[in-house]
Amino acid sequence: MSNYQHIVILTGAGLSAESGLSTFRDKGGIWSTYDYRDVATPQGFARDPGLVLDFYNQRRRAHAHVKPNAAHTALARLERKYPGEVVVVTQNIDALHEAAGSHHLIHMHGELLKALCAKCGARQAWMDDITSNTSCPACGKVGGMRPDVVWFGEMPYHLERIAAHLSAADLFVSIGTSGNVYPAAGFVAEARLNGAHTVELNLEPSERASLFIEAIHGPATSVVPAYIERLLAG
Ligand code: APR
Repeated sequence: MSNYQHIVILTGAGLSAESGLSTFRDKGGIWSTYDYRDVATPQGFARDPGLVLDFYNQRRRAHAHVKPNAAHTALARLERKYPGEVVVVTQNIDALHEAAGSHHLIHMHGELLKALCAKCGARQAWMDDITSNTSCPACGKVGGMRPDVVWFGEMPYHLERIAAHLSAADLFVSIGTSGNVYPAAGFVAEARLNGAHTVELNLEPSERASLFIEAIHGPATSVVPAYIERLLAG
């Protein structure tokens, strides 16, 4: 068994690609079809809430037909089997980590299967479409319901908890992320500053590739289970 005491794993859209969910910046990715300023900013929501709500309604419906893949399952297994602390910090808004059995999980960009009322701040699990006529179950008001996801220009969730994990980490692993979006793209540098060993598992080198001490490139469903096996075998 490896003797890392505190493992932090950052995941991105590439982890869920082989489950059938599109990534954002790859060829044919979500941002090649949609302009993020229209569908993933508070300004876009103010300008055309119907467009934004429909964009997430479509993603929520598609989510109902996908399953966790071997990479999600391997990460849940690491959490169960590894004697040290293992925490997954995900940029993904899908619920595939949970479906695979991960519990020690931080959703820094929110969750697709939750709704947030912009009027009263109430959050709740949400599986159905949201429209501009949807009323908030907590305050009853209409017109403020939105997906509980972090849009560009908004503050990501749980940054203090994440910073505490990064400062304690002796192993930082980044999986399926292009390293384009901060603050997540800055985590590797923070972890390295604290002396952590840093590993990138990705289809190809990311924008931050030079900051990783080790890199294994290939599809997540093959490189992640193999790497987890290595950690558990020590
Ligand atoms: N296995 C491993 N890695 C993969 C796979 C795969 N099957 N398919 C794609 N990748 C890699 C790509 O090479 C790329 O580096 O996953 C990365 C996906 O990058 P992005 O599409 O930029 O997604 P991500 O890094 O998660 O985006 C960060 O940006 O759009 C916002 O809020 C959104 O959370 C998201 C954030």
